[in-house]
Amino acid sequence: MCGSSSGRSNKPPMRVAITGATGNIGYALAFRIASGELLGRDQPVILHLVDIPGMDDKLKGVLMELDDCAFPLLEQTVTTTDLKVGFNDIDVALLVGSKPRSKGMERGDLLNENGKIFVSQGRALNDHAKRTVKVLVVGNPANTNCLIAMKNAPNLPSENFNAMTRLDHNRGLAQLAQQVGTHPRFIRNFAIWGNHSSTMFPDLHNTTVNGKRALDLVSQEWYNNEFIPIVQQRGAAIIKARGASSAASAGNSAIDHVRDWVLGSSEWVSMSVPTDGRAYGIEKDLIFSFPCTVSNGRYTIVPNLTLNEFSRQKIEETQKELVQERNLVEHLLK
Ligand code: NAD
Ligand code: LMR
Repeated sequence: MCGSSSGRSNKPPMRVAITGATGNIGYALAFRIASGELLGRDQPVILHLVDIPGMDDKLKGVLMELDDCAFPLLEQTVTTTDLKVGFNDIDVALLVGSKPRSKGMERGDLLNENGKIFVSQGRALNDHAKRTVKVLVVGNPANTNCLIAMKNAPNLPSENFNAMTRLDHNRGLAQLAQQVGTHPRFIRNFAIWGNHSSTMFPDLHNTTVNGKRALDLVSQEWYNNEFIPIVQQRGAAIIKARGASSAASAGNSAIDHVRDWVLGSSEWVSMSVPTDGRAYGIEKDLIFSFPCTVSNGRYTIVPNLTLNEFSRQKIEETQKELVQERNLVEHLLK
């Protein structure tokens, strides 16, 4: 299935695939990407909307709505349930398609059902995507699903694979800003470490608000007993309130992550990236969230931070969980 609308820029178009394109997050993403919010207002895009067999009618509906927007930057929209077509020659892959958790579940409980999706997606990326493709895994449990995709794409550089902890990062900014009575844009050097799960470590030790140390502006009690658990549990709180998992905010954070990865960020952003055993003593072969900066399309883990005993313990705890998740999917990591 195909449709098109005419673009206006002279730049060659970039191909962006979204899996789970008819789902809640996919629907929130497609229109913003087509309007230029992901790659820039002068960058034409070709959207590859991917979903599973049975979703063809819904894909057609999304395509009709995209056509009806007449976006100047949207060169073409490909809709497909075939990964070979979906990932052919793509520059960016947003791997969203998978089951969300419901009330009472941890994200890791989805591993059994969702993990295998990322085997075939990793293989298809390996065989059909551009060698420079940037892959962001959003589907939960995002970090371990990303590891599965990466391991099944041995011919692609491992640094092409990230998982999303930018939503947790943005949540932390919002909570801190509300507590100290400022706007998130005045906050610097905040970081999420580890897994996108309830063990993640939201770290304020290097954070400043309007140039002042964040930990001098809030009490240790608030940091330990409110801020950290609120950020860790925010996904569950949204599911309880909305009756469905976060979608527009998740799509927004996916856009933030990939935009910064492609266009750069001198500010710290939280990115879950593959480990090589060197950064902060985190063991090799995990997808772990670190504070990063980005330049020329390459991320760098912020180096040489001093971690106190409290931070070390929190980081150790979230690392342990990622190792346990990896052990559970060893058979999928070929
Ligand atoms: P949804 O149920 O609304 O949509 C899921 C979509 O994925 C559906 O269209 C479904 O047909 C499709 N799908 C299922 N298997 C697929 C496959 N193999 N290939 C392609 N498409 C497939 O769910 P949603 O609200 O859009 O959430 C999607 C995922 O994102 C969930 O796993 C959710 O937990 C996760 N999520 C992650 C974060 C994060 O911060 N990392 C935030 C929010 C949601
Ligand atoms: C979130 O953080 O909102 C998502 O990961 C959805 C969830 O299951 O919490």
